[in-house]
Amino acid sequence: MADLLQKVHSELYKKDVEEARQGEAFAPFAEDPNTFSKKFYIESYGCQMNFSDSEIVASILHEEGYGATRNFEEANLVLLNTCSIREKAEQTVRNRLQAFRKVKDSRPGMLIGVLGCMAERLKAKFLEEEKLVDIVVGPDAYRTLPGLVAEAEGGQKSVNVLLSREETYADISPVRLDSNGVTAFVSIMRGCNNMCSFCVVPFTRGRERSRDAESIVAECRDLFERGYREVTLLGQNVDSYHFAPTGGEEVTFALLMEKVALISPLLRVRFSTSHPKDITDDVLRTMAKYENICKYIHLPVQSGNTRILQLMNRTYTREWYLAKVKRIREIIPDCGLSTDVISGFCTETEEEHQDTLSVMALSKFDMAYMFSYSERPGTLAARRYTDDIPEEVKKRRLTEIINLQNNLSKESYTADIGKTFEVLIEGESKRSDMDWVGRNSQNKVVVFPKTERDLKKGDYVRVKIHSATSATLLGNMIAE
Ligand code: SAH
Ligand code: SF4
Ligand code: F3S
Repeated sequence: MADLLQKVHSELYKKDVEEARQGEAFAPFAEDPNTFSKKFYIESYGCQMNFSDSEIVASILHEEGYGATRNFEEANLVLLNTCSIREKAEQTVRNRLQAFRKVKDSRPGMLIGVLGCMAERLKAKFLEEEKLVDIVVGPDAYRTLPGLVAEAEGGQKSVNVLLSREETYADISPVRLDSNGVTAFVSIMRGCNNMCSFCVVPFTRGRERSRDAESIVAECRDLFERGYREVTLLGQNVDSYHFAPTGGEEVTFALLMEKVALISPLLRVRFSTSHPKDITDDVLRTMAKYENICKYIHLPVQSGNTRILQLMNRTYTREWYLAKVKRIREIIPDCGLSTDVISGFCTETEEEHQDTLSVMALSKFDMAYMFSYSERPGTLAARRYTDDIPEEVKKRRLTEIINLQNNLSKESYTADIGKTFEVLIEGESKRSDMDWVGRNSQNKVVVFPKTERDLKKGDYVRVKIHSATSATLLGNMIAE
């Protein structure tokens, strides 16, 4: 509980690499919180975009003289950066608020703020539903946080949930909150224009907009100069990145990736997330061209059945998705591939569920995030269709999906035994300080014993794999 800016990961982005990210150094201003008169505590839920936004919020508060604290009990300002993607994500936030209630009772001056997607979805209603909340701020309104805090200090509850068509926080240099000093996330766009019928994101994050390309490249270069060796370019749909200033250069996602890759061959480039309908051959060829662009694509399929995909408004068919996977493998033969799957969407039959299983087997995903459908108020699906698949059927289908993926992952990881990979060291293994942990280009976690060589986080090594589980490769370093 006492971790600085403790991150409670939703099941959504609970990556194996978490192992490599925990217990690492924190942001510079955390070193001496006593130099700040006021302290804030922030917890983030949901996707990487939210974690990345918390770093922007930290930067804004830092400018206002707030230092971070590990311990919410001593904070003047407690913030929850929330997620609405599924009912369960919202429930987790409500439970956390209850935990804060006790502390607030004994420290009446403490302010509690709710940020992020749930703030945007519920707006002022949050203040009625959760009496202990003082401040509600949506994802595009973080610049106004200091003013809102001042209002709340004056005893007035304050809300700003205005969405913007322009805000990208391009000029704000994020304070890296929970950093291992090696890998960082860089937000390249905000919002989403793809009205997938099940999804609340377009409502909570607003219209899609791309961040100034130069500011992205500058942020990545600065990270590299500070010793970081991997950046992940973040957006809900990175392939539709498009920046075209009047009179300036038009930058597509492929070009942006190239610009970042050219900063240094020692800087790895990753990205997340791709929409199958938008990922182009241009992007695939750019990935193939640069060794430091990692050979890994997260390509959410959601369902393997064309009728369900249509109801989901995903705008591709089963065949189209499979052809895209084939194309990826043609252009980048060693590409790692992962996906997102939803079980039990409205009206899904057993045969249609079987189509999801078969698309997974045919695509041979290395990893997947798997969910049962959770109806979200206000979405197209909630308005148009009935959430008619019983909970136990959704759960059983999800179990079948998970079991299949476990086998696929096992096969994929076992197939790597005997291969040698370049691995970027991200830190010590959580289980043993005698081992390093890092990832290969395909995003698989690799654990290997430290040897006498003078190595450190951020170094690249070659590791030969001798065994595997369904989520980790184990190996030994070999000479260059
Ligand atoms: N922008 C990304 C994903 C955003 S949300 C994309 O388009 O791929 C991450 C994942 O959560 C989705 O891919 C989907 O699988 C899942 N998800 C979204 N809404 C959901 C809902 N209502 N119920 C269950 N899972 C959902
Ligand atoms: Fe949601 Fe679809 Fe946008 Fe992804 S692409 S955030 S699933 S609406
Ligand atoms: Fe959740 Fe919002 Fe991300 S709903 S998944 S935090 S964009």
